[in-house]
Amino acid sequence: MKSSPLLAWRSAAQRRRFSGGLAQVEAMLSDVAGRYPGDLGAACRSTLAAGGKRVRPLLVLLCASREREFSTPVLSAAASVELLHMATLVHDDVLDAAELRRGCPTVAHELGVQTAVSAGNYLFAQAFGLLANSDNADAVDRLSDVALGLSQGELLQMGDSFRLTVTRAEYMRRCELKTANLFAAACSLGALLSGAQAETVDGLGAFGRALGLAFQVFDDILDLTGDEKAMGKRRGTDLRGGTITLPLVLALEARPELGPRLDGQAVAEAAVQAIIADVRASGALEQAREYALAHIAAAREELGRLPDEVDKQLLSEVAGAVVDRYS
Ligand code: IPE
Ligand code: IPE
Ligand code: MG
Ligand code: MG
Repeated sequence: MKSSPLLAWRSAAQRRRFSGGLAQVEAMLSDVAGRYPGDLGAACRSTLAAGGKRVRPLLVLLCASREREFSTPVLSAAASVELLHMATLVHDDVLDAAELRRGCPTVAHELGVQTAVSAGNYLFAQAFGLLANSDNADAVDRLSDVALGLSQGELLQMGDSFRLTVTRAEYMRRCELKTANLFAAACSLGALLSGAQAETVDGLGAFGRALGLAFQVFDDILDLTGDEKAMGKRRGTDLRGGTITLPLVLALEARPELGPRLDGQAVAEAAVQAIIADVRASGALEQAREYALAHIAAAREELGRLPDEVDKQLLSEVAGAVVDRYS
């Protein structure tokens, strides 16, 4: 049975429950991706087959702790959040002109921008089609709010390209729209669709939000420091495209003289490594990491306020795994 790249199960019962649930989610995803002929289907299948951590579906299942056996609505929601995530990745790689995703050429790079736009739209539509099976309008509403925010976040980020005056608050707002809201929805949907009380749904949403913020900050640190093989993405993609992330915001605060080197239409290839070295020397990477860790701590505090029926131990381990991956 497949394990999660983020969690080691502590018992055979846990392994059966979650590996079994994740396998069912995977089958739903394959069914959706396999359904369409031609380039569109191929694009969806390749994004799916390339892997990914499946952290969002895992959160849905972990937050459905009231269910002994995962119900179809919970499994559908888990597949649905991954489909929405995949849709945003395929579109994000168009916007970021990224060449590598999950260790494979991006859809845009391999099959062109037109196919990538259509494939992303297809995945978006399938995400909502699947969630509609849950027969829960509140659930569909929540995911649709996330999708609206995601588009807004990506647009804000495009508009902020090479704007060296981006503030910490503006950056965090983007993280919320692009990433944290989907983490929050994954957690709330698991609770909501398994019949949890409203306070638990909200509390798990707050946990997911804090975890998502930390996740994006770590991802932005990795853009400058990560191992390309482990990430499956090209290092420096944000930097080359002028995306001003937290490490750069902090480095610019400490060393304004970095500014002119980041200013322009594109960062020259020869300058990339030198800029990364200067950002590191400014202490900004360490500071950004502290920022992310504070959000991990906040996520765990949210767990502390929740009732015992919530699987706090495993959720706290996921939070730890998010940190470990980036250490
Ligand atoms: C990448 O998400 C996009 C961000 C929000 C940083 P993941 O790191 O979860 O990507 P996969 O699904 O594992 O490929
Ligand atoms: C992630 O933004 C959020 C999305 C909406 C995909 P990034 O641009 O940081 O994601 P990666 O680094 O390309 O995975
Ligand atoms: Mg990107
Ligand atoms: Mg990134």
